[in-house]
Amino acid sequence: MRIFSGIQPTGQLHIGNYLGATKQWVELQKNQECIFSIVDLHSLTIPYDPINFQKKIMETAIAHLAIGIEPEKSLLFVQSQVKEHTELTWLLNTICPVGELQRMTQYKEKSRQFKKNINAGLLNYPILMAADILLYQTDIVPIGKDQKQHLELTKMLAKKFNQKFGETFKIPKTQIPKIGAKIMALNNPKKKMSKSIPQSCLFLFDEPKTIRKKIMSAVTDTGKTIKYDLKRKPGISNLLTIYSLFSEKPVKELEKKFKGKGYAEFKKQLAELLIVKLEPFQRKRKELVAREVYIKEILNQGAKKAQTIARTTLQQVKQKMGLL
Ligand code: TYM
Repeated sequence: MRIFSGIQPTGQLHIGNYLGATKQWVELQKNQECIFSIVDLHSLTIPYDPINFQKKIMETAIAHLAIGIEPEKSLLFVQSQVKEHTELTWLLNTICPVGELQRMTQYKEKSRQFKKNINAGLLNYPILMAADILLYQTDIVPIGKDQKQHLELTKMLAKKFNQKFGETFKIPKTQIPKIGAKIMALNNPKKKMSKSIPQSCLFLFDEPKTIRKKIMSAVTDTGKTIKYDLKRKPGISNLLTIYSLFSEKPVKELEKKFKGKGYAEFKKQLAELLIVKLEPFQRKRKELVAREVYIKEILNQGAKKAQTIARTTLQQVKQKMGLL
């Protein structure tokens, strides 16, 4: 099976990215052919700082190696270094109805969030994502719930292309984890944890002091009991989900463990658990930060190998579309 997934280099990796997506990547690379991309071109659609953008791309690469992506097992590359992504995007543009793009939830949300910068790239964003996936004849795309709608569009485009020009693209399957597909914001459990809202996040490389502070002040619900109840207790339910995934203990067991104990005790233990579980990632990251040449080499090799696959698909597409 070929796996493809991507992540934006807009900010640090948070536990939502990890539990929703990248933790699965680390597992999948053990037995599948995995291709992971740092999708820098997607990040240009919201305001960013070109001066430190390269640094962010490098930090994102380091973060993935630190959590366990192994270059011997997975391809890791930067999207803009494989030009086939933008070329296929244009070609897919010509078969994608504008109405489909306008109804995308992320487009609507980002247009509200960045009112002064509603650019065409923001609208066409899911087409670039479809190109990412379809170029590699992907079988499975492991993602969090927020990307599901974009995957539906990808499938629609692949089917439409195949119908119009003849069988070309594999139709990918979406893989969304049963638990942890949507980790909620620490400052507002009704919204998702999101890189573009830093105060909503617990980052994988936060210091122990910061972890304690963020967890202790995470917004919770009125009441006292530690019980999973998404409707009435979204804050505690979110923290229980995080606890359960990091401790590998079912929520039911945690409810029993914390019976009769208050929110403060629960949060204290969650913070300590996170400090212990995140420490190995932080240690690995510190080792990697100084090895810029090594990281660049991994990315260059990744891009070269990715391009070999991408080029073959793109040639077929151009031929089918009647280009020279
Ligand atoms: P991005 O960079 O926002 O997020 C990377 C991955 O993390 C997941 N995720 C979450 N999962 C659970 N809870 C959360 N709060 C949470 N926040 C983010 C996302 O679902 C995603 O899987 N458009 C994509 C990147 C992309 C891509 C692709 C993904 C570009 N091309 C092709 C898959 C295939 C994005 O912005 O992800």
